[in-house]
Amino acid sequence: MISSVSVKQPTGLSIHGSDFLQARRKFLPRHSPVFPAEPRRTFVLSLSKPLHISKVESFSADAGTEGSRRIVCKAYEAERSEPIGESPEARSEAARRVKIGIYFATWWGLNVIFNIYNKKVLNAYPFPWLTSTLSLAAGSLIMLISWALRIAEAPKTDLDFWKSLFPVAVAHTIGHVAATVSMSKVAVSFTHIIKSGEPAFSVLVSRFILGETFPPAVYLSLVPIIGGCGLAALTELNFNMTGFMGAMISNLAFVFRNIFSKKGMKGKSVSGMNYYACLSILSLLILTPFAIAVEGPQMWATGFKEALSQIGPQIVWWMAAQSIFYHLYNQVSYMSLDEISPLTFSIGNTMKRISVIVSSIIIFRTPVQPVNALGAAIAILGTFLYSQAKK
Ligand code: 3PG
Repeated sequence: MISSVSVKQPTGLSIHGSDFLQARRKFLPRHSPVFPAEPRRTFVLSLSKPLHISKVESFSADAGTEGSRRIVCKAYEAERSEPIGESPEARSEAARRVKIGIYFATWWGLNVIFNIYNKKVLNAYPFPWLTSTLSLAAGSLIMLISWALRIAEAPKTDLDFWKSLFPVAVAHTIGHVAATVSMSKVAVSFTHIIKSGEPAFSVLVSRFILGETFPPAVYLSLVPIIGGCGLAALTELNFNMTGFMGAMISNLAFVFRNIFSKKGMKGKSVSGMNYYACLSILSLLILTPFAIAVEGPQMWATGFKEALSQIGPQIVWWMAAQSIFYHLYNQVSYMSLDEISPLTFSIGNTMKRISVIVSSIIIFRTPVQPVNALGAAIAILGTFLYSQAKK
């Protein structure tokens, strides 16, 4: 039998949680019918606010058995309108976790697709400066159209914003071109193994340039990172110095990008998505003259004719895909940065590298020696240890 009594709350009648629980502990008999001893539950309750009774329910499992009758009393905090445990905060936290999970899965998926198309393009059309420029151009175009059509709200920016964005954009441009040059010379997996060493650069720059100090565990975690990357580089079958240095320069540039963007974003109200859009536009403006100077339209045109004769019109779709997916994965990663701490972000980034390394080895049938794979595994493990030590 279940009977339920709702208690209408007279204003002003409230029980302080602390009084309530203390009274319960001190004065109630161990087998009170109001607060039966079983089932026992461990719970944590904030006691700083008064509690209001919202509902009193009396029920018994076996009809007519007085001993098993129970009264359940539901209460909520004075400023809340719902019982504890079903609060909108709890629900929105659960929704936030689902949202972050979706961001992460999308970020990794888009990144894997980008890396595959990027390598396909670079194999057939080895112009990394143009490829980098196109990916920034695609992102800038997508966002300018989205703002014009009001699909996304345009950011409100001032001159100070663009000034503080400038060093970030310089570092982003260098890091992007260097990574693309690297991938044009070596296997995608090798570039990403070396890029998993980014935390080592972060610690070294912070220590020797910014004068920051870290706990010994952080320095120790650099041993497997540097050792693993070194082992992977020494045993890489298709080692190429330009490819290796490109990945190293990219690491260094991205550490500075992170330092500058942390400083530049302080107190600014531009969303992650729009921040990345502005970064793309400014980087495109910086990169275009350099791309023309280093490679130039003549080389691009000759190379394109060759790629077209070898691959066919499909090459155009590959180029479009690598450009669009580059923007999309970066946009999602900046959107997730809005929701999570930089530390969670760096763990997500390491997981992303694992998915890229594994999928590119499978798709491009990259030959891997066991000792080479061991080096990669040690480096990746080191980045996990690093993130734990930073906690
Ligand atoms: C780039 O081209 O910018 C790099 O591939 C980026 O690499 P990351 O986002 O994985 O660090």
